[in-house]
Amino acid sequence: MNNDSSARIVADLDAWIASAAPGAKLPSTRTLVTRYGASPVTVQKALRTLAARGAVESRPGVGTFVRAVRVARPNDYGWQTAALGAPPHRGPQLSTALRTFPNDVIALHAGYPDRELLPERLVRAAFTRAARGDAAVNRPPAAGLPELQAWFATELGTVTPAGTAPPAPSDVVVLPGSQSGLTTTFRAVVGAGRPLLVESPTYWGAILAAARTGVRVVPVPSGPDGPDPDELARAFRQTGARAFYAQPNFANPTGARWSPELADRVLDTVRGHGAYLIEDDWAHDFGIDAEPVPLATRDDSGHVIHLRSLTKSVSPAVRIAAITARGPARERILADAQAESMYVSGLLQTVALDVVTQPAWRTHLRGLRHQLAARRDLLVGALQEHVPDARVEAVPPGGLNLWVRLPDATDLGRLVADCEAAGVVVAAGTEWFPAEPTGAYLRLNYSGPNPGAFPDGARLLGRALARQR
Ligand SMILES: Cc1ncc(COP(=O)(O)O)c(C=O)c1O
Repeated sequence: MNNDSSARIVADLDAWIASAAPGAKLPSTRTLVTRYGASPVTVQKALRTLAARGAVESRPGVGTFVRAVRVARPNDYGWQTAALGAPPHRGPQLSTALRTFPNDVIALHAGYPDRELLPERLVRAAFTRAARGDAAVNRPPAAGLPELQAWFATELGTVTPAGTAPPAPSDVVVLPGSQSGLTTTFRAVVGAGRPLLVESPTYWGAILAAARTGVRVVPVPSGPDGPDPDELARAFRQTGARAFYAQPNFANPTGARWSPELADRVLDTVRGHGAYLIEDDWAHDFGIDAEPVPLATRDDSGHVIHLRSLTKSVSPAVRIAAITARGPARERILADAQAESMYVSGLLQTVALDVVTQPAWRTHLRGLRHQLAARRDLLVGALQEHVPDARVEAVPPGGLNLWVRLPDATDLGRLVADCEAAGVVVAAGTEWFPAEPTGAYLRLNYSGPNPGAFPDGARLLGRALARQR
């Protein structure tokens, strides 16, 4: 990248911005590339410099704009520090997975699949139909629309083996996304100050939900095959914990899928300690080489609390998830969810149900499996070619992420910043560890936009890593 030409573009755009109206749209990156005879990476660097100074703001998918608000004098919010006091915990405000970037960066950090992987036509048609119906004006029952509860229960019921009672629709509580399901379950079933066993590494949002609800997380080492069952048993014995949060299928971040033997051992341990397994089945629709079978299908005694979300597979705009729980736990969860948000928009529930009950939904999922396989293999191949020091511990049989080990001496903070400056966004694995990281990891997501740019992204990552040798 040429620093001089980036500085020249900044200086020139600064002059333009000074005379532009607040809110004015800057020319597109393509126009700027032509105007300045510079590469897209150099133009992006200049735009990032202007954004960092607060001169412009970028709205992904729309463009870059002169900042509308120009504050003449800085506000004094010091009084709020006294009013709020110190926060109960200090963590990152926004996970890397939720950050948005201009369209032309190579995004390997995202948490939600790109639009081209969504059933967009089905979603739009479902919204149109739902807007015409009663759902647009009615208040749904607190636990969810009965038809949607029934759909979630049937999804589990059809793969429940003979001899185990399938869940009933009334065991299902519909929620606005599984993130809120985690917060609700941790608060209602574990409780502030009490221990919750979690895999390490585990989903950053679960760590956050535990911190927010005052639940004390106890890490259990986990890897590409799932958690260590002996360590799990030891952690239950030592802490007296009554719950274990885990992702038995395509875990975020490791991609792990538990073997049937491990699933049996974990269930036995959980039952033996009179505890709950909080099963986060977030990637249910993202099987690639394997069909995910939830552990919840092997239990009818209320030990497994099952969370399934549609926000990643239907649309991030349709924030619908469900918890299936039996016995008093279900009542506690429903009571907490009601206190939190009363009920979930009936319109969104109707849209979600419409999409997943169309015959085309199954066709979509079959196509998605091929697209994810191609993207995953493309990224694995690109890393092998361009980042020889990186090790993909296991090619995941499903899910959206690669968990990549880097040399121990890697300065991850610097690597992530260098990659971002070069136009590729990656997430440091640190965010997925509930305690100190046990190695230098990156989590790379292969469901983001423009997979054609994965090889370039890997090349830029390889270069940034090589500079640390
Ligand atoms: C493992 C896991 N659980 C839960 C969630 C939350 O998903 P949502 O709230 O969109 O349903 C995510 C999102 O990234 C996730 O990765």
